[in-house]
Amino acid sequence: MIQKIFSVLGTIFLAISNLFLNHQKLVLNKKVIIITGASSGIGEHLSKSLAKKGAIIICAARRKNELERVSNEIKKDGGSAYPIKTDIRILDDCRKLMQKTVEKYGKIDALILNAGLSMWSKFDEIEDISYFKTLMDTNYMGAVNCCHYAVPYLKKTAGKIISCSTAQALMGFPNHSGYAASKHALHGFLSTLSIELKYQISFLEVILGWIKGTNLRYNALGQNDKNTKTQVRKHTEEAVDLNECVRKIILAIESEKTKVYIPKKLSLIPFLKVFFNTFLEKKTIKAIKRNKK
Ligand SMILES: NC(=O)c1ccc[n+]([C@@H]2O[C@H](COP(=O)([O-])OP(=O)(O)OC[C@H]3O[C@@H](n4cnc5c(N)ncnc54)[C@H](OP(=O)(O)O)[C@@H]3O)[C@@H](O)[C@H]2O)c1
Repeated sequence: MIQKIFSVLGTIFLAISNLFLNHQKLVLNKKVIIITGASSGIGEHLSKSLAKKGAIIICAARRKNELERVSNEIKKDGGSAYPIKTDIRILDDCRKLMQKTVEKYGKIDALILNAGLSMWSKFDEIEDISYFKTLMDTNYMGAVNCCHYAVPYLKKTAGKIISCSTAQALMGFPNHSGYAASKHALHGFLSTLSIELKYQISFLEVILGWIKGTNLRYNALGQNDKNTKTQVRKHTEEAVDLNECVRKIILAIESEKTKVYIPKKLSLIPFLKVFFNTFLEKKTIKAIKRNKK
């Protein structure tokens, strides 16, 4: 109990100090930034917005034509971008991603772990459980593979690792058992790296709620290993606009934050989990019902 009180007090203290400390803004101009999952959604918009700030963007994902489209649009707009076709589940693809970046630009300043895959089904209704491995391979091992090859370069630049994660990395969430598990694993992995690599690399964990205008729901896995394309669920009004989401992520990067919750109300989750878990579960079930269709 005493430990819990200290942990909550620590979180409150950090939040208050973040409010009052005037951090120097991180300059993004000429920073070499690798973004996984740059071919659509948050990754695509983040790539374009960071390029507008002068960053050199390495766009990574599996669909070559989409990567080329994004990087051509960045270049047309006066920015710098370089597409590298990468499947983050394949270790050697991740090695080549880092190697080609360093060959071309001489350094890596930041790695944005954004590529991801979701699901929507109650566990006991899933027919083919084998796709839980795909979720782990993408959302967790994909990040591990990238970090394995990026960390030596990031140490040289005192660089940054940014993860586009979810509230489901911090709590259980109906219909998302495999997704929540993979993001919990990612959270545990990066929390550990941030201790091991303190003062060498900085970390930003982005905890996202529902974001409108991406392909995550369209590509989500359902009751078997086929996705749920025919019945994509609509977003409710509580979902965050994609541009607003990207604006807040960039603000958090520039302010050297270690954690950002989008929307902000998600920052209550750790506190609610400790003191009002039943309330949190009820809110979650309500949210799931609102998002069913
Ligand atoms: N949208 C939301 O409501 C929401 C909420 C919480 C967290 N997030 C997180 O935000 C991140 C971005 O999601 P999004 O909403 O922008 O979804 P999205 O539009 O579906 O984008 C997912 C991206 O990941 C890439 N990707 C998937 N598997 C990959 C693989 N094996 N190797 C390389 N790239 C891969 C996809 O590109 P290719 O298909 O071309 O490979 C795509 O560019 C995800 O990690 C997601 O978990 C999103």
